Amino acid sequence: MSSDHKESSYKQKNIELADLLTKQLIVSNEDFEKVSALLSKEFDRGLRSTEDSFVKMYLTYVRSLPNGEENGRFLALDLGGTNVRALLVEFHRSQSESSATESNQKQQQQEPQKGSIEIIDSSIETIPTEIFHGTGEQLFDFIAEFIIEFAFRNKLTGERIALGFSFSFPSIQKGIAEATLVTWTKTFNCSGVVGCDVVRLFKASLERKAHPSIPFIDVVAILNDTTGTLIYGALLDENCRIGLIVGTASNACYVEHSSRIEKWPSNYNDPEQMIINCECGAFGDNYVIDWALTCWDRQLNYESLNLNKQIHEKLISGMYLPELLRRCLLTLIELGIVFNGKTPIELLQPYSIRTRYMSHIDQDDENDKNNFPNTRIALTNIFNMKNPLFKNGFNDSDVKIIHMINRRITKRSANFVANALRTLANRIDNIDISIAYDGSLICLHPHYRCWVEEKLNEFIKTSEIKKRFRLIRANDGSLYGAAIVAAICDR
Ligand code: GLC
Repeated sequence: MSSDHKESSYKQKNIELADLLTKQLIVSNEDFEKVSALLSKEFDRGLRSTEDSFVKMYLTYVRSLPNGEENGRFLALDLGGTNVRALLVEFHRSQSESSATESNQKQQQQEPQKGSIEIIDSSIETIPTEIFHGTGEQLFDFIAEFIIEFAFRNKLTGERIALGFSFSFPSIQKGIAEATLVTWTKTFNCSGVVGCDVVRLFKASLERKAHPSIPFIDVVAILNDTTGTLIYGALLDENCRIGLIVGTASNACYVEHSSRIEKWPSNYNDPEQMIINCECGAFGDNYVIDWALTCWDRQLNYESLNLNKQIHEKLISGMYLPELLRRCLLTLIELGIVFNGKTPIELLQPYSIRTRYMSHIDQDDENDKNNFPNTRIALTNIFNMKNPLFKNGFNDSDVKIIHMINRRITKRSANFVANALRTLANRIDNIDISIAYDGSLICLHPHYRCWVEEKLNEFIKTSEIKKRFRLIRANDGSLYGAAIVAAICDR
């Protein structure tokens, strides 16, 4: 056998081994049937009792969807990631469409059907790192100053302006403007907030920072980012019943019929529905889907800051996928299947790979004839090319293997999302169901949204009731949704 031939059969062997070892990242449709049945059980449990459940199914007290009757100016504030954002909008009732501005009319043609929204101003500010781990008072003073400054800049006048507050952390609501934080997630850990009503804390900061020349900022509603996304989606499409976020974190909400919300027996008046914030990232925290986890999911969980928490989210969201890729690669390196068994230093650092590189890698196609150009570029961004290991560039089989596992991890995430969506859809009576989505992974990845759609269609084939799904992008849904909910409250 010539040395070239030997080399190529050695590479082929590595590809086959990598394929075999990472097959555990592929979840069959039969297994998804089981996962869906388990998730449905957890949904039921959450609707019966928040205390006795893992998937909390929080009441949001948002019961009405926009109907075109919203009118006037409203503020929205969004806290959920590394930035705080503000928005000032003006709603024009449907019947006054003729008086809308030209840009407004353009927007109506593309987007909202009912009434219309005119965006007057928006602002964004990065939250200083020390605030993430400071006191609650410092956090709320910071955002109160930010919104007051925004009100100044827009020369808001009058006595009062209503504000919708998008707050994307697990919270128990007892009303539309009351939310007790259960636990911080993401990078936040401010003291003195868990167990407290976030709206009360925010209002106290607004009072402290109030200025006589700006109107009273009235926090009329607090909502999760998924709820905002659904509400904004409902303005774009009247069949919208599900809100979905797939970004750094992930979660979903949907419109549930009052009679099915056992833990909320008190109210059956119109409209007989409420948006339920599932907090489905916590699905699996009671070990029910452990059988579906790979060794890399387990390792990631064991070494995470929130051990045994947010198991479903750890399979799906953009924060964790690159870490799974890193761990998977380390295994293949240890077995000598990738990089000749030598570990580049960059892979030793947890969470060192950025999510956007996974999107770049996925720009290449599996049957790529061009030798995976985007994967190669992404790898030059991840690794220091001065490393002698890469002096001849990347080896073809390594590139192919990295592309394959990257795709398996991302596709599995999209499949889990599709599975959660069809499980939710089974609870909704409508046949036509639109799903409003937002979040960096689903919006920026080249194929993610299509993969979700493809899997939904596969699931439909075997389901008794043939639902028709439509995925609608609700850009900045959390912020728009907060303004819309404030307007609905004032309707
Ligand atoms: C986390 C939060 C949840 C939020 C999601 C998306 O899972 O717990 O409330 O909706 O992130 O931002």
